[in-house]
Amino acid sequence: MQSVYLDNNATTPVAPEAVAAIHDCLEHTFGNPSSLHRPGVQADGVLGDARRSLAEQFGVPARDLYFCSGATEANNTVISGVAHAYHARGRHIVTTAVEHPSVIEPLRRLEEEGFTVTYLSPDPVKGLSVEQVRAALRADTILVSIMQVNNETGAVFPVADIARMVKSHCKTAVVHSDGVQGFGKLASPAGALDAYSSSAHKIHGPKGAGALYLRHGVRCRPLLVGGGHETGLRAGTENVPGIAGFAAAAAAAGGKREQDYSRIAAMRSQLVRAVESTGRAVMLSPPDAIATTLAMAFPPIPGEVMVNALSEAGVAVSTGSACAASRNKRSHVLEALGFEQRVIDSSVRFSLSRLNTAAEVESVGEVLAATLKRLRPVAERVLR
Ligand SMILES: Cc1ncc(COP(=O)(O)O)c(C=O)c1O
Repeated sequence: MQSVYLDNNATTPVAPEAVAAIHDCLEHTFGNPSSLHRPGVQADGVLGDARRSLAEQFGVPARDLYFCSGATEANNTVISGVAHAYHARGRHIVTTAVEHPSVIEPLRRLEEEGFTVTYLSPDPVKGLSVEQVRAALRADTILVSIMQVNNETGAVFPVADIARMVKSHCKTAVVHSDGVQGFGKLASPAGALDAYSSSAHKIHGPKGAGALYLRHGVRCRPLLVGGGHETGLRAGTENVPGIAGFAAAAAAAGGKREQDYSRIAAMRSQLVRAVESTGRAVMLSPPDAIATTLAMAFPPIPGEVMVNALSEAGVAVSTGSACAASRNKRSHVLEALGFEQRVIDSSVRFSLSRLNTAAEVESVGEVLAATLKRLRPVAERVLR
């Protein structure tokens, strides 16, 4: 069997359109976009085109889009920057317990500085309600940061509705969403928000490029200072080829977004049917999860054993989240959702992209059935 890549929430293969844009830029546009001479102006032109094109995909004005190294930086910038810009107004922040570590960790640091953070727990089936967020708002809330799509389970949170509710109850609070797993797949909610983070390598662009949308007028203390790049929000010479690749990848994704989404949804259903036919699997994704993500558990087979067995058979998937797996840590997301330890320890995440095919998914179904048939009796004997 040819190898099949189903770990697209960790990273994606780079699309040919992005490769061509990066190659073209490396070959022809080497200038520093801050320079005044022709090569500099040409590089600045590439940045301007990418900013306009990406802003269109976000549904926001181009002047409000800032380039950076990826979503970890975008999330750190907006969380720490907004908190420090508005701390005189209040010190309370609302988020969820299932955010990516690039949101949770800067919030932990703010707690050490005296900020108070409310971590909401979504329901594993019903998700997060607007009402849950409303009940957490306080007069001193300055920031609400809630991800658009969870990277481990695929749960989709109603961030545009949450933003509209926050604006009617707590006008001055800034509403941010980590859009990494939603951008390019679902309709962009950015226009309803104050801030939105995205990353190129999750949508078939290169690693090391990302963008932060920050609504004009929202104050944010920069994380990186030095050269005043990106209108002062993010110092450092822009990664021009990476950004060109990001814009090309986003344009390619945006072109057929809805058709691709339906095709991915059909592949996901095919995969669910294949898994369910093997019996005794536990579904971890909620019923209305994004089509790109399917989280399942196969107790008592440990997740790493499944991942290694599938990898040997040519299928790349991950346990819980890729980041947690590489640090051998239990998933904080599945813990916050209240799943039992034995289920968490046997979790496997399949994540699809528009570059996967139905034929690939069919062969994964066969490999999965054979792998479970082989491993289940062993795991049941050993772990009895
Ligand atoms: C939801 C979410 N946010 C943020 C990130 C970090 O993105 P980047 O790799 O661009 O730093 C990831 C990456 O896995 C993610 O899934």
